[in-house]
Parts: sequence; structure tokens; C-alpha cells
Amino acid sequence: MKYILMHKNIETALIDIDDVLGGITVIEDIYSEKHLPVGVITSKENSEKAVRSSLNRWWRGRCIPASRAGINEALETIGADDTSLLLTRCLGLSLSDHYWIRPADSDLKWENINFFENDFSDDMGDVLFGKKISPSDIEFLSPDNTSDGDLKKRWKIIDGKRCLIKGGSYPYRQQPYNEVIASLIAEKLGIAHVHYDMITIADEPFSICEDFVTTHTELVSAYRIMQIRERKNHESEYMHYVNICRELGVDVVPALDGMITLDYIIANEDRHFGNFGLLRDPDTLEWIGAAPVFDSGTSLWYNRSDDQITTANIICKPFRKTHSEQAKLISDISKPDLSTLDSIEADISRILSSQKPERTALIAKCVMNRTETLKKR
Ligand SMILES: Nc1ncnc2c1ncn2[C@@H]1O[C@H](COP(=O)(O)OP(=O)(O)OP(=O)(O)O)[C@@H](O)[C@H]1O
Ligand SMILES: [Mg+2]
Repeated sequence: MKYILMHKNIETALIDIDDVLGGITVIEDIYSEKHLPVGVITSKENSEKAVRSSLNRWWRGRCIPASRAGINEALETIGADDTSLLLTRCLGLSLSDHYWIRPADSDLKWENINFFENDFSDDMGDVLFGKKISPSDIEFLSPDNTSDGDLKKRWKIIDGKRCLIKGGSYPYRQQPYNEVIASLIAEKLGIAHVHYDMITIADEPFSICEDFVTTHTELVSAYRIMQIRERKNHESEYMHYVNICRELGVDVVPALDGMITLDYIIANEDRHFGNFGLLRDPDTLEWIGAAPVFDSGTSLWYNRSDDQITTANIICKPFRKTHSEQAKLISDISKPDLSTLDSIEADISRILSSQKPERTALIAKCVMNRTETLKKR
């Protein structure tokens, strides 16, 4: 079926999407190269096939990943084979950016369909949270069809605010608590961050945070930014990202200093290139700056047994293999002021109080030790 790939009300390309396989089969025309998704290669120097393949990677990257907790049960309820088939059913709309697809024969307007200003259905969120609904009764217009990440999650409108509710994984289901601890540490250190709280649904812990994207901003992941141009031979991945941001007019170093500092302290194991990025203005395409720090829950020994709560063998992403190597990238260690974390041990014990006290004490101690180590740098 033919669609126009839209950026708010800007028509960017005329495309065909295969109703059975979910992919983009033809790019019939490009109307606005500059409004295409960031990092999609454009037509001048490339073949249609290369552009289509690049746009497909972006499009398929928009669907719920196959690794999402509980996705097979959800697909069974819906009666679909693949999450990419859900994208057309919600017109590709998301709460993290302003791209969508408009059926070629429709005159729908952005203001009447976007999820920032219009209500959306709870059905997909309910299905992703395990509810059985007959496929013919499901209303698919929901940002839950375009949400990324492995953890069980859903968007919900609460008191008019768009909120992301996100669970944890077994055995400790610690990620929601970790998000709260990471926000507290970021707040104490003065690092721009998304604020997370805790809620309980059917005895299960979840984190909840507000949408940090608005009708005037959109999130572009570091992964997509790094597709803008190839890495030069002499550039490390860190410098590749820093230099591209600089070319876009953003000095991202202070924000990276903050993120690397936080990740060191909480022993974050999953700061991949999809877990940070920049904000831009979707209308003017001006770059605003670094997105606030979000998704810090895969940290604090979230899946480790008590005897593994040490500073050894912690996975580090995205720039270096170890946190101590990555911490060397911090350009100004005097900022932020680490003495603001002097009472963090007690805060961690309070927030993690549902875990066994021995476990909580070990985690709090390790965070203190890591903070002290960083102070001595
Ligand atoms: N508060 C928010 N406002 C807008 N978009 C958000 C917000 N939080 C997350 N997102 C978007 O949703 C995606 C998934 O969220 P998040 O990274 O928190 O999930 P996750 O399951 O922990 O991911 P991962 O697989 O990286 O562990 C993010 O990559 C980002 O694009
Ligand atoms: Mg993530």
C-alpha cells in the first residue's frame, strides 16, 4: 500500500509498504531530503536500493524488538507474526519523535492524529501487559507499537501527561528501583536527567517517567547521529560522536562527562548508542542539545547474585570496555561535585528496601566505593 512518510505535516517521501512483510518495497519519490530521518542516506550519490535499504533499517528499528519481554504471548493474542506489521496499524506514530505514515489517499493532518495532543488506545499496552483481548476488538492506535527496548513497558496518559511505565527482569526485578536511584544521583550531581518514580501494578514493581519529548522537540539517538557520516580512520567512536555533534553545532562533551560519571558510579552495563542522544526541533531542524539521561536501570548489579556484587567483571558501554577506561574520557573531573553523594548509601538502602538487607547493603557499599575511586582520579 502507498503511504507518504511524514514529519509532522511535511511530506518527506512517497513509499510502498508491503502489507504482508511490513517492509518498504519502493521509494517512489523523495519530497524533502532534509526532513528524512537522521542518518538515512539520500539519493544523490546512492542507488535507490541503497536508500531503500537505509530507510528500511530505520523503519524496522521503529518496531517493538523481537527481544521484548512477553512479546510472543502478545503477538499470539493479536494474531500477528511479526511486530513490524503493527507499525502501519498505528501509522508509525511515536511519543519520542514526529515521524508517521499517511495513507497516500488520505488528507489527515498531524494535529489531528499525533499522540502528544490526542488520546491513544490502551489496548496494545494492555496486551503487552498480558491481557487477552480478541484481535477484532483491539484498537491499534497506540505509541506502544513503536516503543523500543527489551523490558516490558507501556505508555499511559495520566492526568493529561504521557508517561512511560517500565518493568524489571527476573530474578530481582531491580531495574525500576535502579531508575529511581539513578535519577536521585543525577539530581544530586546536577546532571540533566529524566525523573523516575516507582509504582506497583498487580504486585509487580514498575518505574514511571514522563515523556521528555514535546511537540517542539524530538529525540534522535546517538546511533542515528553516528550514521550521518562514516567514522574517519583516526576517530575513536567517542570522537566520532563528539565531532559529528560539533559539526551539528552541539558541544556534547559536558553532557557526556555527566553521563559517563553517572554510569561509572552506578556500574551501568547497558548504555548502548540507543540509550542516549540529542534533541532537535522538528520544525526548524535545529539541534537543541543532549537529551536528558534516561534508561539507567540496567545497573547496580541488577541481575547479579550477592556474591557477584563487586567491582569486577562489569560490562561497560558504549565507548570503552571498562568503566575505568571510559572514565578517562571525562574531560572535567572537578565537575560534578561528588561530595553531594556523601549520604547516598542511606538513600540506596531506603529505595532498595524491598530487596534482602544483605543485598542492599552490598550494593550501597559498592556505589560508595566507586564514588570514592572516582573522586581520587
Ligand atoms: N521519557 C521518555 N520520553 C520519550 N521517549 C522515551 C522516554 N523514555 C524512553 N524513551 C524512548 O523509548 C525507548 C525505550 O525506552 P528505554 O530505553 O527506557 O527501554 P529499555 O527497555 O530499558 O531499553 P533497553 O533495551 O535499552 O534496556 C528509548 O530508547 C527512547 O527512544
Ligand atoms: Mg533503552
